[in-house]
Amino acid sequence: MEILAFGVQADERPLVEKAFAPHHDVRCLDVFLSEDTAPIAAGYEIISTSVNASLNNRVLQTLAAGGTQMIAQRSTGFNNIDLQVAERLGLTVARVSYYSPYSVAEFAWTLAMAVNRRIVRASNRTRDFDFRLDGLMGRDLRGRTAGVLGTGKIGEAFTRIAHGFGMNLLGWDVAENPECVALGMKYVDKDRLFAESDLISLHVPLLPATQHIIDESALRAMKDDAILVNSSRGGLIDTDALVRELRAGRFTGVGLDVYEAEAGLFFLDKSLEVVEDDTLARLVTFPNVVVTSHQAYYTVDAVSQIIETTVQNVLDYQAGRRSENVLVPAAPAS
Ligand SMILES: NC(=O)c1ccc[n+]([C@@H]2O[C@H](COP(=O)([O-])OP(=O)(O)OC[C@H]3O[C@@H](n4cnc5c(N)ncnc54)[C@H](O)[C@@H]3O)[C@@H](O)[C@H]2O)c1
Repeated sequence: MEILAFGVQADERPLVEKAFAPHHDVRCLDVFLSEDTAPIAAGYEIISTSVNASLNNRVLQTLAAGGTQMIAQRSTGFNNIDLQVAERLGLTVARVSYYSPYSVAEFAWTLAMAVNRRIVRASNRTRDFDFRLDGLMGRDLRGRTAGVLGTGKIGEAFTRIAHGFGMNLLGWDVAENPECVALGMKYVDKDRLFAESDLISLHVPLLPATQHIIDESALRAMKDDAILVNSSRGGLIDTDALVRELRAGRFTGVGLDVYEAEAGLFFLDKSLEVVEDDTLARLVTFPNVVVTSHQAYYTVDAVSQIIETTVQNVLDYQAGRRSENVLVPAAPAS
């Protein structure tokens, strides 16, 4: 059987082909699944999709009408899939519920250090043979305070690295993580975390309760020279409020791997188009801000795990096995 995989980046393609090879042929497309591209899936019983695919009502209707029965999503998040419609259409949907939290935690640190030590500006200067140090002064982190919002798998990995830097550790979560407590983390309320932290990193999921958890009052409560990093979901931050605070000259640095209006932008080459998003356009002009396009998970280790689990999800579906990765079960046989 041939599987159709949408949204496969050039780096990923050999990993996808190798993982599927013992079991199935796979046709890799670099285009993402959308209303325009869904007709390509006609005749494929099993397809695989990526984090930025749009699996809305119309796309799912097109897939079902073309004979698709199983969707193997290559991500943990599934907010891009209308699960109720998939269920009604009898489609099986599976995702990857676990992969390396180190990929994201290490990237959050990469952003934190890049803004702290002005790495982007320094690199731009040396390319121009400008070897001055003015404007590149950073800060030691040893003895300063890291505030971690969300101390699950990624937050814990982030905390271990903060511990390695010799930082004081503050945490906020609905549940304490004993591994973080063992590292010396003190759980405090959000307001105290904002007020006392020199570095704040976000690792809670995006839920109604966490939407814009970093709003104007949260930003105002932070130290003027704090570093803020978001490698979780863009909707955690009220970006317009962040832009207002940045315009006022606040924060040592802000590192963003995610942005609340990233859909339709991130993962795509928009370099030849007029940018219509004024907030993003303003954001990237600040010298103390680094924006990356949702690449925190993008390591060979995490991507390999994602693909291997996707292959296993396909094999489980074919064998009629259920696993924790199944979001929508196949319609029961009548
Ligand atoms: N940028 C990327 O490439 C990328 C990749 C993977 C994950 N992520 C993001 O990272 C997030 C965290 O992933 P994880 O694997 O650590 O998840 P996790 O489930 O292990 O941890 C989430 C933590 O948030 C806490 N939490 C949940 N709801 C909360 C609430 N309302 N208030 C306070 N705390 C709450 C949970 O108790 C848990 O400790 C994901 O939800 C996702 O948004 C980003």
